[in-house]
Amino acid sequence: MKPLLVANWKMNKTVVDAIEYVQAIGDGLEMLRNIEVVLCPSYVALPVLDGLFKDTRVKLGAQNVSAWKNGAKTGEVSAEMLKPHCQYIIIGHSERRLHCAESLTMVNDKVKRVVQASLTPIICVSNESEIEALMELDDKLADAVVAFEPLEAIGSGQPSDPKTVDAMVKLIKKRLGVSKVLYGGSVDQGNIRTYLKVSDGALIGGASLVAKDFLALCQSVNG
Ligand code: PGA
Repeated sequence: MKPLLVANWKMNKTVVDAIEYVQAIGDGLEMLRNIEVVLCPSYVALPVLDGLFKDTRVKLGAQNVSAWKNGAKTGEVSAEMLKPHCQYIIIGHSERRLHCAESLTMVNDKVKRVVQASLTPIICVSNESEIEALMELDDKLADAVVAFEPLEAIGSGQPSDPKTVDAMVKLIKKRLGVSKVLYGGSVDQGNIRTYLKVSDGALIGGASLVAKDFLALCQSVNG
């Protein structure tokens, strides 16, 4: 299985910044055959990047999705709306659970919407109770990707101990029956190889924001 590297830009980059990033990368990411790369820009940049990466190996993801179907939900963006522009959707990132009061029920509802739309959820979990809450989804998780992201490791420059990551990846696979579990939290070019020994890929925030640095990180993993 090729390592899956997911760039989470969070609430960074205007559409113009996103275009400049893609221009700076050139065809660099498309050349990498030994890894899968997913870029997750803001909603507004998704259609533009979708056009720029058309017919390439680079995939796109959204950072969030509505828990509801289309209708009277002002400000929400549905899985159906995202489907033409991306293949993956990040769900339940701890920043959303914290700042946007995203509950376990909402996370599960979002997973259902994404699976119904035939998109792949990347579900973020940081502890055992969040893993347990996903267990009721059962068959919906067949092709889901799960990302283990301990809170203290996110954006802190203090990544988790690889032994802890190894244990959590195994636990997540056993409990949820998923085959792809990523690690996220202060992953950079210096430590990514360590985490790929105990996981199937990485969710990368800060180290994905500068085009040339992210390309160099991807190239170092591709070999
Ligand atoms: P970080 O963020 O790489 O900046 O720690 C990871 C994430 O929050 O997904």
